[in-house]
Amino acid sequence: MYLIIILVKKIAIILDVSLLEDLTDKKFVVCPAWPYVNAVPHLGTILHLLSADIYVRYLKLRGANVISATGSDCHGTPIEVAALTEGISPEELVNRNHIQILELLRTWNIDLNYSKTANSFHYQWVQDFYRRCFENGFIFSKEIEQLYCETDKRFLPDRFVEGTCPHCKTPGARGDQCDSPTCGKPLRPVELISPVCKICGKSPVYKSTTQWYYDFSAFQEELTDFIQRNQQFPDNARKFSNHILEEGLQARTLTRDLAWGIPAGPAIPEAEGKSIYVWLEAVLGYISASADLGLRLYKDPDYWKQFWLDQETRTIFFIGKDNIFFHTLLFPALLLGTKDSYGDPFVLPYNVSTTEFLIFDDKKFSKSRGVGIWIDEAAKLLPTDYWRYYLAATRPEIKDTSFTWPELEQRVNSDLNDVLGNYIHRVFVLLHKYFEGKIPECHRLDATDREFVSAIHTVPESVADNFDNFEFKKATTAIIDFARTANGYLSSKEPWKLIKTDITAVETTLYLCVQSVATLSILLSPIIPDSATKIWEVLKQKGNVHNQLLSEAGKLKLNPGSEILESKPLFAKIEIEKIQKQLEDIHRKQRKKTKKVKKLPDRRIIPFKDFERLDIRIGTIRKAEKIPKAKNLLKIRVDLGEEIGERQLVAGLASFRNTEELIDKKITVIVNLEPATIRGVRSEGMLLAAVEGKDLGLLIPDKDVSNGTKVS
Ligand code: MF3
Ligand code: ZN
Repeated sequence: MYLIIILVKKIAIILDVSLLEDLTDKKFVVCPAWPYVNAVPHLGTILHLLSADIYVRYLKLRGANVISATGSDCHGTPIEVAALTEGISPEELVNRNHIQILELLRTWNIDLNYSKTANSFHYQWVQDFYRRCFENGFIFSKEIEQLYCETDKRFLPDRFVEGTCPHCKTPGARGDQCDSPTCGKPLRPVELISPVCKICGKSPVYKSTTQWYYDFSAFQEELTDFIQRNQQFPDNARKFSNHILEEGLQARTLTRDLAWGIPAGPAIPEAEGKSIYVWLEAVLGYISASADLGLRLYKDPDYWKQFWLDQETRTIFFIGKDNIFFHTLLFPALLLGTKDSYGDPFVLPYNVSTTEFLIFDDKKFSKSRGVGIWIDEAAKLLPTDYWRYYLAATRPEIKDTSFTWPELEQRVNSDLNDVLGNYIHRVFVLLHKYFEGKIPECHRLDATDREFVSAIHTVPESVADNFDNFEFKKATTAIIDFARTANGYLSSKEPWKLIKTDITAVETTLYLCVQSVATLSILLSPIIPDSATKIWEVLKQKGNVHNQLLSEAGKLKLNPGSEILESKPLFAKIEIEKIQKQLEDIHRKQRKKTKKVKKLPDRRIIPFKDFERLDIRIGTIRKAEKIPKAKNLLKIRVDLGEEIGERQLVAGLASFRNTEELIDKKITVIVNLEPATIRGVRSEGMLLAAVEGKDLGLLIPDKDVSNGTKVS
């Protein structure tokens, strides 16, 4: 089989036909996982965005019709926890970080359609989507017990709780997923062994609440069929998906008791006050961001439909292996739940490029321990093309991969500088030295020339082959190997000797060399766009390197006689110790800064001015009577002195005190609380009591003070 492939390839080369699929005008949506906006991405988290950017640029070289859709994942507990830690609101945190990330993506030349989930367009899109799923009967409600922290007075969904994973027994597992690279199972908070509250560290209790569920089990068959039919998914994605399907899909909670999130009410009227679980709305961002793009670019509200409602469109996801389930099963199940209510069915994921984890010198990235490099720091240390090249060349495609300093040194100093940069520079210098910077004629080819021409012809296709298989490492190697071949060709031709005896041979050699430089520039453009642009500019070729076609990259297209510019070396060697030291300095400064601000502020401490706003008074109970049909409620009239007069309160005292016992008791009341109507009875204040288990003590002054006296 393998031999046949080689043979077919050889014949294709001889006949000069392409074996690559024609992608011209084929539709693609490239979808890298949305990074949580709680922090600036580090080298590991930028990987998906960078891969997508490289892939989009590559697809454009193939003439494809491609859009991208990604952005900041703004909701969910990671963001709320980060905001709490900094003592600011989630909105503030999100806006600040999103703007910073946008700026950094520009620096990194990551040119994607980058949106955010905290925007009203996405909110409405998601709410409209779930209204349809609800009408189709895939959403139901159930009263359940959930973890609740009595100290923080809140439910503890997802990452607000940590404990031991019930599957692999790793401690520190979060309430939504086990983080252990060998487990990675999705979790529910109540499954955790010995859970603790992430905010205060105490053990939570169970409390019942009503939640809405998305009925994934309804799609068991359709999804099994989908995974089976999909020919593209890589092994790891297929295996993981099948494993989950074998265990059987279960309904998952769609709603949360969190204030920060997309309100569920507009989609499901009875779910007023709940918010939609972050994962179940963020994945829809792929579509809402496509729709948003269509509105911004073309004012066309239906633009997204030509991509997402066309079965021919290829949607490609760049994700970490911990995100497989959400993309191969959960997202498709949501799409199926709309039951064609948008007109045509949604196209289901065409492929997922799932990477393993990038770690840092064999350790996990950790801001607090200063382990790792973040993209803002990286941009301060080296040109971003160096990082882009490094990450493409070492992309963790097969196994978890560690960033190491010696590897960075080798990739930059050897690959970029010695092989690529030197070759290109040599060609440019020789052209100026022998031909006044003009591209020479190409004459008769000898066997060595012909071999080199064939290398120029074939390299675009082998690079494309690798990109088509999402093997970025191999694509990068193929380009560098080609530069090495070119370097070898130039050296073997020894133009510096031949120039005295055979000028036409030198012309041919340098013609082929400068052509190979143009080829390199196009092939490199997805990976190191800045450097590719620089090469293209020296060549003074028409247009922009990023608008070229890969199918033309291997042809001898340069015009003899046209001039090239003077050039400078493209890359420079780096000294790793120096860079390491610079990074340590950056980290040290940061630690100093964060030490000052970054103590988890105790949210239970309030400023004195907040306390002062409470108007608390002493009053005497004049009347108390039961409120019909309310088990524990009493209607109480309190005399609060001349200034305030009598007030009516509703208080939950009926199971603790008889009404007679209460008459003439001096109590403490907050009088400036917003009035409320409870069971149809108006309450204009709140009496204070200390509740302990099944009993309660009223707050009564230890000396007789007159009604209306202020408490301070
Ligand atoms: N924010 C998630 C993570 O970092 C990924 C979300 S991908 C999306 O793991 F599709 F849901 F947006
Ligand atoms: Zn707590």
